[in-house]
Amino acid sequence: MTAPRDSGGPAALVGLLRERGLLGDPAWERAFLRVERHRFVPDVIWAVDADRSDGQLLAVGRDDPYWWQTVHQDVAIATQVDDGSPAGHGGRGRYVTSSASQPSLMLAMLDSLDATEGMRVLEIGTGTGYNAALLAARLGSARVVSVEIDAALAEHARRRLASAGFAPTVVVGDGAEGAPEHAPYDRVLATAAAGDIPYAWVAQTRPGGLVLLPWGNPYSSTGLLRLRVAADGTASGRVLTRAGFMWLRQQRAPTGGWRRYVDTGAAADVSATAVDPGDLLHLASPARFAVGALVPGLCQVVLPAADGSGESTLWLYDGSGAWASVDHVPGADIFTVEQHGRRRLWDEVERAHRWWRRSGRPDRERFGVTVTPESQTVWLDEPDHPIPAPLGG
Ligand SMILES: C[S@@+](CC[C@H](N)C(=O)[O-])C[C@H]1O[C@@H](n2cnc3c(N)ncnc32)[C@H](O)[C@@H]1O
Repeated sequence: MTAPRDSGGPAALVGLLRERGLLGDPAWERAFLRVERHRFVPDVIWAVDADRSDGQLLAVGRDDPYWWQTVHQDVAIATQVDDGSPAGHGGRGRYVTSSASQPSLMLAMLDSLDATEGMRVLEIGTGTGYNAALLAARLGSARVVSVEIDAALAEHARRRLASAGFAPTVVVGDGAEGAPEHAPYDRVLATAAAGDIPYAWVAQTRPGGLVLLPWGNPYSSTGLLRLRVAADGTASGRVLTRAGFMWLRQQRAPTGGWRRYVDTGAAADVSATAVDPGDLLHLASPARFAVGALVPGLCQVVLPAADGSGESTLWLYDGSGAWASVDHVPGADIFTVEQHGRRRLWDEVERAHRWWRRSGRPDRERFGVTVTPESQTVWLDEPDHPIPAPLGG
């Protein structure tokens, strides 16, 4: 399977990563040159259907120029929708359930993993097999184990790995359990996000080893968390940077659209707030990361006004019937709130926002986590400075 010349092949991708100053380690540069991404990306990928406004995804085959224009670019590529059974209109997809991650993000993760020759690595989320191939190219196939929950994806990855000359161990199973039969590992790398960090990943890592994962909550985009495993079986570490990823299957946020969880016709209590909802508009905002850490199960959708005024309404919900809405009017001091249900979601958000302000408006990189067999503690700046207990849920 040869890449057409105009796709640029792996050299084009390496050129992009080099131009951006990301390829500091020559060993990873060699791996990115050797492993051809087009061998791992399936014959059908998924792209947002620009002719429709419903965000559904359209199948794009390898014979479409878009496929080749995309495959050696620094972009994530959706490779599976709706767990393999497209659920949108006319064969379209609704949700991306597997992807070939953005190469620059993969490279940042591989760099942060600090995996060197001789180490054994467990990857969670085999997906296309491309990342497993990069690890195998650097460390040797015998030192790489990868777990994928979706049997069809695992089979595709195995075949593509073999045809590219790699043979890491690909296990079909729930990555939350790790792969104990091949443990211990020097490094665990999750390529699916978790809020609750499976202790198995810590237990299967040697003392001194690292566990790297996209971590966070469904209210905000996730951050790349690096935990160092101690001899007493605990692990602790900080968020390094933002890293948006899909969730482990069993930790997905409620799906199906916000209207499924918000009964807008239900009676609601009306109040006013001085907390500016503008702090919570953007997925990557620091306030949102902190609020999500303190308010369990929180989800949000932002609906901009159609009149071009810049106003919008934030709808907050938890998937169990409670909801709140707050109207954002740019420049205002007071904002109208409505709340419905057992939980007073806006009250919880307000308390969390107050804590965030009093703590000096911390960004995600000031947060860290300590994991023990019994618990997971989120802290600010230092492990002995835990954030307050969740406010509701
Ligand atoms: C972003 S993709 C991984 C990309 C992949 N590393 C690559 O190089 O193509 C995330 C993958 O995690 C898988 N996944 C989700 N939950 C999982 C779980 N509990 N155990 C193992 N794999 C899981 C998904 O099926 C999906 O293929």
